[in-house]
Amino acid sequence: MTKYQEVQQHLRGHQYHWLITGVAGFIGSNLLEGLLRLNQKVTGLDNFSTGYRHNLDQVRELVGPHAWLNFTFIEGDIRRLEDCRNACQGVDYVLHEAALGSVPRSIEDPILSNENNVTGFLNMLVASRDAPVRRFVYAASSSTYGDHPDLPKVESVIGNPLSPYAVTKYVNELYADVFARCYGAKSIGLRYFNIFGPRQDPNGAYAAVIPQWVAALIMDQPVRINGDGETSRDFCFVENVVQANLLAALADGSEAVNQVYNVALNERTSLNQLYEMMRSLLLEQFPHLQKHRPQHVDFREGDVRHSQADISKAGRLLGFKPTHRIDEGLKQAMDWYIAHLAPLQ
Ligand SMILES: NC(=O)c1ccc[n+]([C@@H]2O[C@H](COP(=O)([O-])OP(=O)(O)OC[C@H]3O[C@@H](n4cnc5c(N)ncnc54)[C@H](O)[C@@H]3O)[C@@H](O)[C@H]2O)c1
Repeated sequence: MTKYQEVQQHLRGHQYHWLITGVAGFIGSNLLEGLLRLNQKVTGLDNFSTGYRHNLDQVRELVGPHAWLNFTFIEGDIRRLEDCRNACQGVDYVLHEAALGSVPRSIEDPILSNENNVTGFLNMLVASRDAPVRRFVYAASSSTYGDHPDLPKVESVIGNPLSPYAVTKYVNELYADVFARCYGAKSIGLRYFNIFGPRQDPNGAYAAVIPQWVAALIMDQPVRINGDGETSRDFCFVENVVQANLLAALADGSEAVNQVYNVALNERTSLNQLYEMMRSLLLEQFPHLQKHRPQHVDFREGDVRHSQADISKAGRLLGFKPTHRIDEGLKQAMDWYIAHLAPLQ
C-alpha cells in the first residue's frame, strides 16, 4: 500500500475539519472534491476574485448531496483578519490556496498581489496560530527558483525572483519559517510547478497555457507559442497536488514538518510537444484540428527557458508518488474541457 493509500484509508475512518482558502478556484475546488469524497468536514473561504461559484456547483454535483452537507462556505477575504479568524474556528488542517496567481498580473499591479499574497498570507498564519490548527499547508511556487539555472530544481537552491509574484511566494516561505521559530507553528509549503486539470480557468488575460490553448483549439482560434516552442515545463496534473496536500497535512515525522517541497513529476515537456499532445487528444472530436498549426511569436520577457523539479524530497519525507503522468492527466483534462467548453462553441 502506498503512503497516499494509507492516508486515504485513515481519513475514511476519521473525520477532521479542514479549511480550504481559495476553495472556489482551480486547485481549491479539486481539494474540496477530494476531501468530500473522503467524508471529511470542510469549510471553504473565497472572495470570488478569480474563482467561481460554478466550480463549487460542479463539486456539489460530483460528490452528491450527502457529502455536500459536510461543506460550509464562507464568502470572505483573507485581507481581513476577522474573516480569517472566523474561518479557522474549530479547524484541524488548513490548506491555504487563496492568492492572486500569474506573473504578468503581478508585474501590472504589484501592490494588489502583495495585499493578497503577503498580507493575506500573514493574516492566515496569525489566525491559524491563534485558533490553533494542527497544521498549515500552503501553496508555494516554483517561481521561487527565479533565475537559478540548475536543473532539476532542488528545494535548497534558489535564485533571484523574477517577478513581484515570485517575491510574494518566497516571502510566504520566510513567514512560515519564522512562525515555526517564534511560535512553534507547524507548516508545510508546497512549491507547485505548472499545475493543470479540470476547472482551471481558460478565460482572461492571465489564463495558464493549457486551458488557454485548449479553448483556442476547440474554437479553432490561433494558438500562440512564445519563442521557438522548445521552452519546457514540468506540467503536473492536479490530482497529484491533492495527494501532496493530504500527505503534507498528515505527515507525522518531525523532519517532514516546517519544510518546503517541490510538487511536480520530475519530467520536462516542451511547449511544442505539449501542443501536439493536446491537438492529437482533441483531433477525433474536432476534425478542424487536422490543419491547425501553432503561431510562434516573440519570447516573453522574464520567462525561464526550462523548468523541472527534483521530487525526491517529497518522496522521501512525505511518501509522495505521483499517480498521473502528463498524458494521463491531459486526457482527463481534455475530456473535462470538451464537456464544458465545446457546448459553448
Ligand atoms: N496553478 C498553478 O499552476 C500554480 C502554480 C504555483 C502556485 N500556485 C498557487 O496555488 C494557489 C491556487 O492557484 P489556482 O491555480 O487554483 O488559482 P485560482 O485563481 O483558480 O484560485 C485562487 C482562489 O483564491 C481566491 N482568492 C484570491 N484572493 C483572495 C482573497 N483575498 N480572499 C479570499 N479568496 C481569495 C480566488 O477567488 C480563487 O478562487 C495559489 O496560491 C497560486 O499562487 C498555482
